[in-house]
Amino acid sequence: MKRMKKHLSMLLILVVALAAFGCGKKEEAVKEGALYTPGTYTAEEKGHNGNVKVTVTVTEDKIENIEVDLMDETEGIAGPAAEKIVDLVLKNQGLGVDTVSGATVSSTAILAAITAALKEAGADVEALKNIKAEEEVLEVSDKEADIVIIGAGGAGMAAAVEAASLGKSVIIVEKMPIVGGNTNRATGGINAAETSIQEQEGIEDTIETYYDDTFKGGKEENDPELLKVMVENSAEAVDWLNELGAGLTRVSLSGGATNPRIHTPEDGSAVGPVVVKVLENKLKELGVEILMETTAKSIIEENGAAAGVEVENVNGNSFKIHAKAVIIASGGFGANSDMVEGFRADLVGFSTTNHAGATGDGIELGQEAGAALDDIEFIQIHPTTDPESGYMFTEGLRGDGAILLNSQGMRFTDELLTRDVVSANILKQEGGIAYLVTNEEMKEENAALAGYIKKGYATECATLADVAKAIGAEEAAVVESMAKYKDAVAAGTDAEFGREHLTQDLSEGPYYILKVTPGIHHTMGGLKIDTTTHVISAEGSAIKGLYAAGEVTGGVHGANRIGGNAVTDIIVFGRIAGKTAAEELGN
Ligand code: FAD
Ligand code: FUM
Repeated sequence: MKRMKKHLSMLLILVVALAAFGCGKKEEAVKEGALYTPGTYTAEEKGHNGNVKVTVTVTEDKIENIEVDLMDETEGIAGPAAEKIVDLVLKNQGLGVDTVSGATVSSTAILAAITAALKEAGADVEALKNIKAEEEVLEVSDKEADIVIIGAGGAGMAAAVEAASLGKSVIIVEKMPIVGGNTNRATGGINAAETSIQEQEGIEDTIETYYDDTFKGGKEENDPELLKVMVENSAEAVDWLNELGAGLTRVSLSGGATNPRIHTPEDGSAVGPVVVKVLENKLKELGVEILMETTAKSIIEENGAAAGVEVENVNGNSFKIHAKAVIIASGGFGANSDMVEGFRADLVGFSTTNHAGATGDGIELGQEAGAALDDIEFIQIHPTTDPESGYMFTEGLRGDGAILLNSQGMRFTDELLTRDVVSANILKQEGGIAYLVTNEEMKEENAALAGYIKKGYATECATLADVAKAIGAEEAAVVESMAKYKDAVAAGTDAEFGREHLTQDLSEGPYYILKVTPGIHHTMGGLKIDTTTHVISAEGSAIKGLYAAGEVTGGVHGANRIGGNAVTDIIVFGRIAGKTAAEELGN
């Protein structure tokens, strides 16, 4: 009690002291007639993965310079947003700047930090907020290239690298302010069989097993020819990315896979940002032009062949890009709830893990050009997303040892079944909610988990009693479930649910608990293609000059995609699209 009183009085002194000093940072008094007190000011605000820090230098009447330290933000997403915001604030000398779509959390933090630093410099920030950024009027004129690609995600950029490497001129149009689409979000990894990395790790895996797992996972609805191409080219896809500098050297297990075959960076961090980064770097080196915030509106047709695209830029102005070939690589439609619900009425009200640009534009563009659709009704929900925001927690956590408990503190599924089954099993639990149980040991070995904890998604629990409290269950039930699981790991057999991968017994805390529910994740269906990525018409023939790759296509994954197979798909078929289009153009 005495100690508590002492703490309280110290707290009081601290509060009084802070109040006397203007509660933290002092705002500088500005000289009459000046806008700022000259100097350099820093401020930090919470972004997506942690804080972002800005350093702002002002003279009496000018914002001279702004430096942004992104700290733990994803470079490929937050970097372009920071560049855009800094550019606009400096150019307009005001704070009336919009956040950047696709990087909303990071850009809000950057703007807030700049505002805080300017406030400290004595600025009238409300007045500065009224100085609106003047819209940059972009020059509009028609363009020409050998090949135009719709979408700067993984598939589009892989296609561009191949086509440009074969000497073709390529223009990519990207409707968002940042490149990477859903590929930026890919976390768990890329599947591949018979890779040099598996061999080094002594993992025995075969292309046939990979095919069988994927066919079974897809409920045998996959197009066998497309699937064969994907699995046979998977190891080369990983080698290719690694030659570009991706560093995908860790292999682990993912749902529905017989053997460990999902490849990630060595620290277990997300695969997508590195894939996007290496492809973007290669495109810079090859001099490929990417027109940002430019939306493909229609495919130009001449003499029965695709001959370019009509686009609209950020100012709403239209122009044409004439080309001899068009590759549609615009991704899926997981963020278009009207489309999702139109094909699957049972998926009303689910949140999505997808980026805002995943609206299925390519499906409409392709259909207008005469394309047939394949498997369009197959839409996947991911088992473990944050119930509030839809943010996805990678399946890799379950592969690395996490288990699922319901709010009664009981296991209810083999956590490593395919995601359609695990999702269905979660939806049968009270409120459609479950809890992923991870621990400190897992955190140390998995950078993705460490990231979720840092972002504040996890509840830290020192003991199993705390775990029970966090999930609202009886302590005895949690203790019993965890003891049974520990015994199963020791025995190497999970008699209750038949989980086969039993490596982490979760007997040591502290624990990190993530509350989860399923969310819309992947659209397996899309434009019908052949094995060399020609878009197939409703009449069953290849549409001249039109190619497609990635999530915009259908057929590869069947009724249910296995985790880790989309990145394989986009790299394998993106590369094939670029090569085929370039080769069919001739010299
Ligand atoms: P995208 O990467 O989405 O790129 C398409 C691009 O086209 C976008 O940038 C979009 O803005 C642009 N675009 C759309 N319409 C137009 C238009 N009209 N004009 C111009 N541009 C347009 N798969 C795995 O295999 N492993 C994983 O670990 C994994 N994790 C995932 C995690 C999350 C949270 C999500 C959402 C998906 C994950 N996936 C994963 C799936 C995988 O990331 C995607 O299926 C894949 O990246 C899609 O690549 P893409 O190139 O086809 O499309
Ligand atoms: O859970 C995940 O990391 C997602 C993987 C995937 O969609 O392939």
